[in-house]
Amino acid sequence: MEKIKINVSKPYEVLVENGLFSRTGEIIFGLKKGGKVMIVTDINVGKLYANKLKNQLNSIGFSAQIFTTNGGEQSKSTTEFAKLLETLAENEFTRTDTVVALGGGIVGDLSGFVSACYLRGIDYVQIPTSLLAMVDSSVGGKTAVNLTAGKNLAGAFYQPICVLVDPELLSTLPKKEYSCGMAEVIKYGAVFSNSLFKILENGERAVLEKVIADCIKHKKSVVEIDEFDNGCRQKLNFGHTIGHAIEKLTDYKLTHGQAVALGMLLITDRAVKKGYCTEEAQSRLNKVIKNNGLLLEQNFDINSLLKYTFNDKKRKGDFITVVIVKEIGESITEKMSIEKWQEFWKD
Ligand code: GLY
Repeated sequence: MEKIKINVSKPYEVLVENGLFSRTGEIIFGLKKGGKVMIVTDINVGKLYANKLKNQLNSIGFSAQIFTTNGGEQSKSTTEFAKLLETLAENEFTRTDTVVALGGGIVGDLSGFVSACYLRGIDYVQIPTSLLAMVDSSVGGKTAVNLTAGKNLAGAFYQPICVLVDPELLSTLPKKEYSCGMAEVIKYGAVFSNSLFKILENGERAVLEKVIADCIKHKKSVVEIDEFDNGCRQKLNFGHTIGHAIEKLTDYKLTHGQAVALGMLLITDRAVKKGYCTEEAQSRLNKVIKNNGLLLEQNFDINSLLKYTFNDKKRKGDFITVVIVKEIGESITEKMSIEKWQEFWKD
């Protein structure tokens, strides 16, 4: 088993092992010694795993129940947020009780934000079931819900008490969701590690457990230095500023992973033209993105995309922090004024 300690303001461990799900009850009991547990899940994941988890928890001494969302981005609404808070209150959850997020990034973000707010903070555990949630959203304490004006506009940094990653749970993940997570895995390789990227170039699915653990270690390395996302953590946004703009421009018809993959390609294309990035790195990135089924048509009107990037929540005043890969495994961030950002997109 890989035990990855995340040394932030409230430290915790991420455990990664095939088959770990069957031991979830005992692991959580080691941390909490009983009490009430609200398992938060969505209808798809819930059908497969929620009762199994509830039985494990109840048989070891917890009193567990299940809260099921419909899934999809609309589950990350203020309405669902309030409903989950009210459910905790109706069931008399106290500060010593626990929320368990069993699902992908949407379930994790909603559960985390509810946990941050209920009674000004109760413990929560992340059990990610999608690749994206395993390598990215379950670790690092970003929690949020969406507002009408945009995604993730209300939220908090609130760390879980542990993250339990069982790569075997991915066997039931739809292929499209898996590719979506691969975009984030490719991001880690491109930004932080040539050796991780080489594994992706070889397409070795057999080492998935190691790949997931490697991504989490890269996330650990930035989150420990920059828990609140003011500096090097922003490297995790490679491809995301343009990716978010693509999501908005296409009215969320593309998956987050598809949009991020296109974002990585577009920004890298400009980085090559402006002399920041080598053509070799660009060609390697293109190939891996293509091999993972993430290479799509790219006929976007750049000016429309840029307009959306000006509204990105990560914009600070008149500046945008741009993440650029120079070589595979070597990246920089550059704070660009709006004028420089526009100039970056001109030949
Ligand atoms: N998903 C990016 C971050 O956690 O900072």
